Amino acid sequence: MASLKKIGTTALALASVLPATLAGGGSSAICTQIQQAISHASAVYYPSSKNYTADNAHWVASSTQASACSVEPATAADVSAIIKLLGKTKTPFAVKGGGHATNPGYSSTTGVEIAMTRFNTVTYDKKSGTIVLGAGKIWDDVYAELAPLGVFAPGGRVPGVGVAGFTLGGGYNWISNQVGLTVDIVLGYQLVKPNGDIVSVTKTSNPDLFFALKGGYNNFGIVTQFTYKAFPIGQVWGGLITYGAAQAAEFNAAFSNFAIHATDTKAAIVSGYGLDANGEAAVGNIMFYDGPSPPKGVFDAFLNIKNTSSDIGTRSLSSLVASAPQTLPAGTRGYFNTMSFFEYTPAIVNAILNETTFWGPRVAAVEAGALAGYHMEPFLNTLLTHNTTPTAWPFFRSKKFVPLQMQFTWSNPKHDATFRGFMEQSAVHLTNVANQDGQAIQQLPLYPNYGLYTSPPARIYGSNIPRLQAIQAQVDPQNVMGLAGGWKL
Ligand SMILES: Cc1cc2nc3c(=O)[nH]c(=O)nc-3n(C[C@H](O)[C@H](O)[C@H](O)COP(=O)(O)OP(=O)(O)OC[C@H]3O[C@@H](n4cnc5c(N)ncnc54)[C@H](O)[C@@H]3O)c2cc1C
Ligand SMILES: *[C@@H]1O[C@H](CO)[C@@H](O)[C@H](O)[C@H]1NC(C)=O
Ligand SMILES: *[C@@H]1O[C@H](CO)[C@@H](O)[C@H](O)[C@H]1NC(C)=O
Ligand SMILES: *[C@@H]1O[C@H](CO)[C@@H](O)[C@H](O)[C@H]1NC(C)=O
Repeated sequence: MASLKKIGTTALALASVLPATLAGGGSSAICTQIQQAISHASAVYYPSSKNYTADNAHWVASSTQASACSVEPATAADVSAIIKLLGKTKTPFAVKGGGHATNPGYSSTTGVEIAMTRFNTVTYDKKSGTIVLGAGKIWDDVYAELAPLGVFAPGGRVPGVGVAGFTLGGGYNWISNQVGLTVDIVLGYQLVKPNGDIVSVTKTSNPDLFFALKGGYNNFGIVTQFTYKAFPIGQVWGGLITYGAAQAAEFNAAFSNFAIHATDTKAAIVSGYGLDANGEAAVGNIMFYDGPSPPKGVFDAFLNIKNTSSDIGTRSLSSLVASAPQTLPAGTRGYFNTMSFFEYTPAIVNAILNETTFWGPRVAAVEAGALAGYHMEPFLNTLLTHNTTPTAWPFFRSKKFVPLQMQFTWSNPKHDATFRGFMEQSAVHLTNVANQDGQAIQQLPLYPNYGLYTSPPARIYGSNIPRLQAIQAQVDPQNVMGLAGGWKL
């Protein structure tokens, strides 16, 4: 009785959020059709089952929606059967890899949620020097599984990030100063096209789709597996070190100096500002060196600053990635917003610290516990020179640019629009600062994996839009992928 009552309530709640095409009993019809079309290796799940909950779950609660049902395909043939049915019935759907999208609706839906979790292969082919990863993998698991072989495909730098979304959007990784973005080292895709055809996409088999999938997100079909060039990895050095407000100015100087003058291709940092429990600025700095210890001088400026905590040392890549956990309390909502700079000059870095101290108290005034964070990611001038074929993202490679990841988190859904507005205002202010600093950043691509959904697609795909639209018209004339959320062209 109790469980029946619960199911009844869930169905009611769903009916109020389902789009017109699914309301009025249509929802279970498509789920049943899918169930009948797929093999026994795959499965459909309904509200209140454990798998359904896991399939719809996201890093932030604000990207989680109640789907009519979830489906876990295990084979490309089943993905093909599913996408054909969704296209035929024009059913809204979502595709989820690691569920780290912070934009609502990008990998969530009130229609059919396709969770790629059963695509969990990790294979290394020594002869060809390639690694094949299933589209349901999480990077931390990939690193752990490949560690005994001494190789990896470079992906997420902190725990939990999915292989699929990360790779389809670009991919800043720990060895980007040596190899470029993760899209630059992808050698092939297995793609289920919007019409259900299963194709292998490589530089030679399909140069147009090879270009389009390198940053073009979910506009061209559902990817079931990725093939990467393999890179050696052994003991690395680094981890997380934190500093207090009194050291912020000293840190800023060291950071900017590193951003502009570093030359060692094996060294990288990601540095974040936020407010501590006392409302004062705090710095979190993740350092990475591709080797058991960095040469003298590379990180000394950071090591010489008085720290508040430090977890630095020689370790495995898995251990370094685990040093900066990203688990949020249940129910945490949040968005990312992004900006691109030509360089992290002192003016920009100081302005970013000022944004932290400006917005920190203001978000806490709206909602106790809400946080405003800014993560700066410097790279060498050669960052964008490693690609051997053109990529959908970024459309601009003639000069180095570096991303800023803005991250605000809160709990009350009523505050979504307020915090989004703050994040937009912060970007407007920082754009003015950059312009005064002589950086015409409006021409730079925004990184799709960090972009706030209100950003215009022209800022993401720019001069590549005409070619991408032409490819899309050819591969998806019925606009099946338009039934899924995400960056559109
Ligand atoms: C804590 C955290 C740390 C991060 N660290 C980094 C970092 O170090 N470097 C970096 O570059 N980015 C980083 N990101 C950003 C990250 O790259 C994006 O959030 C990325 O989209 C996550 O991929 P996912 O598979 O987990 O996401 P999902 O939410 O599952 O998917 C993201 C998008 O990809 C689409 N998609 C997923 N799977 C498929 C598929 N098989 N076929 C077609 N489309 C698909 C979805 O529909 C969705 O639109 C981080 C994000 C978070 C939250
Ligand atoms: C989903 O179902 C499968 C098969 O019953 C099971 O092996 C798997 O652990 C489930 N996953 C979750 C997250 O519950
Ligand atoms: C961090 O501070 C402690 C205490 O002052 C110090 O012993 C340690 O060496 C510092 N860590 C690093 C990596 O500099
Ligand atoms: C600090 O940031 C706020 C908000 O963007 C801005 O109004 C102010 O001018 C900034 N102050 C300085 C000194 O940059």
